[in-house]
Amino acid sequence: MPTLQFKGKTFVQNHHLAVKYHQLVPKKDLSLTDKVSLQDNLIVHGDNLKALKALLPTCSGRIDCIYIDPPYNTGKENWVYNDNVNSPMLQEWLGKVVDKEDLTKHDKWLCMMMPRLKLLKELLNEKGIIMIHINDYEIHSLRYLMDEIFGRDNLTCNFIWRTDGNFDNQAKIKICHEYVVVYSKDISKFETPSIIDPNTKEDSKLFKDQIRNTIVKNGRKNPKSILKLPAGFPANFEEGTIKKRDKGYPIFKTDAFIKDYKLLNEVEVESGWSSKELFEEFVKNGMVSIVDGKGQESRFEIISTGAIEVVKQRSEDQSHVLSVLMNMGNTQSMSAALKEIGIEFDYPKPLSLSKYLLNLVNNNEALILDSFAGSGTTAHAVLELNNEDKGSRKFILVEQEEYANTITAERVRRVIKGVKTANSEKLKKGTGGTFSYFELGDEIEMESILRGETLPSYTEFARYLFYTATGEEFNEKAINERTGFIGESKNYEVYLHYKPEIEWLKKNALTLEEVKTLPKFNSKQRLVFAPAKYVDDYTLLENRIDFCQLPYEIYRIKK
Ligand SMILES: C[S@@+](CC[C@H](N)C(=O)[O-])C[C@H]1O[C@@H](n2cnc3c(N)ncnc32)[C@H](O)[C@@H]1O
Repeated sequence: MPTLQFKGKTFVQNHHLAVKYHQLVPKKDLSLTDKVSLQDNLIVHGDNLKALKALLPTCSGRIDCIYIDPPYNTGKENWVYNDNVNSPMLQEWLGKVVDKEDLTKHDKWLCMMMPRLKLLKELLNEKGIIMIHINDYEIHSLRYLMDEIFGRDNLTCNFIWRTDGNFDNQAKIKICHEYVVVYSKDISKFETPSIIDPNTKEDSKLFKDQIRNTIVKNGRKNPKSILKLPAGFPANFEEGTIKKRDKGYPIFKTDAFIKDYKLLNEVEVESGWSSKELFEEFVKNGMVSIVDGKGQESRFEIISTGAIEVVKQRSEDQSHVLSVLMNMGNTQSMSAALKEIGIEFDYPKPLSLSKYLLNLVNNNEALILDSFAGSGTTAHAVLELNNEDKGSRKFILVEQEEYANTITAERVRRVIKGVKTANSEKLKKGTGGTFSYFELGDEIEMESILRGETLPSYTEFARYLFYTATGEEFNEKAINERTGFIGESKNYEVYLHYKPEIEWLKKNALTLEEVKTLPKFNSKQRLVFAPAKYVDDYTLLENRIDFCQLPYEIYRIKK
């Protein structure tokens, strides 16, 4: 299989593994909820490479749908590629603004995308899909990269999006399309979408549950042959006669008499035929419906002109999604709609397009991730879809720019609460909902914790552990260092036996005495983090303790 080579590839292909885990620090004042939690809708401010890594402990293998719109690298937008890749050659190359003049901008774009796509794949569940907006500048590189990371067979669709709106009037050929590249984690597990392309006409064949086609088909591929229609063969008319004929296909060797929607006498008909084998199977089956190669129920009928038709029952699994996306809005009118609610953003993706695409996943409880969030169209789409079908989809947005609060989160706040002055009724009313806002915090240096180099304070470590293990809000005030209690989640009481001193960590372990001093347990299981244990499994079981050895098992309790 052809593969893609680019400058820097050897340095970035495993870079996602080297990216450090960072804390996700909750920002109550920027959130829109009473209880900040990693289980809520999330807006994370920070570089998505670190943010995606930080989300791994809580979200790995849980995301149903990734919907991203990365920089297109057109040269019109300047962007910075400054991942902390550990190579002197790359260090020299990085950190400069990538602009039109940068001859290696395509290599840099690939270096930026590769580790992010690898992390995104880890976050996706088995049935999940990833959808990526892109245009002609990087489509070819992106397809190769996606083939390499997700597997060529998992290409699900390379949508052409007809971008209505302003065209570049100077262009020799006016470009009016972009792409949405869709890959599945495992295409065999991707379900046929139940959504119907909104351009589908009401009288379209797609809405009919039966498909009818003549099998009379003359041509080189279908040499003439004789079919025998036995007495009892079904007709689609009640009564009549089809006269013997030697012109006009099919040729009838004898008269055919129909009564009560059935042929009374055996007749031979001659023509070139399509579906001949299926026809013969149907006759063999006593003229009872059979299933074709695509799993569709099929039967045959003679019609009043003498033609033989195959009638196929459209299966539930029939797709009504077309690979060309049309009439789904444009960025200019979306920008104008955002102005209505006081949000300024260039080139936001149209809401109707985003809603349609998110509905390719047949799950109104889907967890949806957008790690290039911009103005937050994905969150807006999720909130509206939930309102429309009473769903409980959730979103996770990541945005690195300062406007993560002032534009991304602010749009979501306004969409949730409603804006009285908005023209649209939906925007006036507001969708309702909540979100929790997080900043990227300090690095969690597992290796240096192991070596005792940089040991975090008890509270800092407790906060990190509690979030990472439970995904729920941490309340510093609940800490009781004497018992080691650091908080209570939906399923667990959580304990931490730890001091930021290497000698203490070397010597200390969870002992029987400490187990006995744990507060009386309520109905919940206890999660105890400690450097080691001197108690047997039976004691742990008896005391409802799940033991987690530090630092290795921090990420153990993911649900
Ligand atoms: C094309 S815009 C997305 C627009 C969005 N779909 C909308 O409808 O508003 C791309 C966004 O990705 C953000 N971005 C680029 N690189 C990023 C990174 N490494 N981490 C997080 N966000 C990033 C940019 O700041 C920008 O806001």
